[in-house]
Parts: sequence; C-alpha cells; structure tokens
Amino acid sequence: MDDTTLTALMEREHHDVDEAIEDFVQGLRERHVRHQDLRRATDLLQRHIYIEEALIFPPLRAKGMLAPILVMEREHGEIWRTLDALNLEVGSGTVADSVPDRCRQLLHELEVHNGKEEPIIYPQADAALTDSQKDAVRDFMRSGTMPTDWVCAQVGNG
Ligand SMILES: [Fe+2]
Ligand SMILES: [Fe+2]
Repeated sequence: MDDTTLTALMEREHHDVDEAIEDFVQGLRERHVRHQDLRRATDLLQRHIYIEEALIFPPLRAKGMLAPILVMEREHGEIWRTLDALNLEVGSGTVADSVPDRCRQLLHELEVHNGKEEPIIYPQADAALTDSQKDAVRDFMRSGTMPTDWVCAQVGNG
C-alpha cells in the first residue's frame, strides 16, 4: 500500500503546475508561444482542483471545516477564471500584450492559495480522511480522469 502523505503528493502537483506556467513564460521571453506548456499547465491545474473539490474537501467539510473550505473554493473560482482568461488571450494565433501579466497574476494567486493549503488544509486531510478515502485520492492521482466539462464549484454556481 502506498502511504505517501496527501500533503507530499499534492505539494508535488503544486510544483508541477508552477513549473508548467513558468515554462510557458520562459517561452514568451524567447518569443515562442509554446501552446503545449499552457495546455499542460491547464490540464494539471484543473485536474488538481477537481481532486480537491471532489475527493478531499467533502470529507473535511463533513468534519466541520466549513469556513476554510469555502475560502479555498472561492480562491479556486478566481484561479479558474484567471486560467480561462489566459487561455482566451493566448487563443490560437496572436498573443495579447496582457499575457505575461496574466501569467504573473495566476502565479501570484496560486502562491497565496497554496500557502494556505500546504500548511493547513493538506495536513488536516492526512489527519482526518480515512485510509480508504486517502487511497481513493492516490488512485485517482495515478490514473484518474476528470469528467469532461467539469468546472469548479464557484465557477459552476455562476
Ligand atoms: Fe486548491
Ligand atoms: Fe492545491
């Protein structure tokens, strides 16, 4: 049985997302629009948010962590909209001047958000989720696919 903590696994994903965005920014500096980097960042980040909202937050909420989870979901909404705006701005052809700033905005929103999840939310998840709930998270991280057209709670609620 894999007993790597959720904290360690989810932190690694935060780094993978940051790295993908930074690769895309580096491409812009070299005057290349590397769509595959933005695609990788988008897929990783949306799936990461899905794992949290579908598998990690519900059992924490059931344990009474209502306010902190609501804050996390609100921030997911902001992050999701920033990511949508970035993808729209990059489009398929010419890149708007706003793209580098949008990347910085996204990295900043993630830094603020991850700075709360890593010391507070994930350790709580490691402490409060049952072994089978944690296994479900690990299994999904290994091989799960997010439902098509899924959007995070705060975006889905308008
Ligand atoms: Fe999150
Ligand atoms: Fe996260």
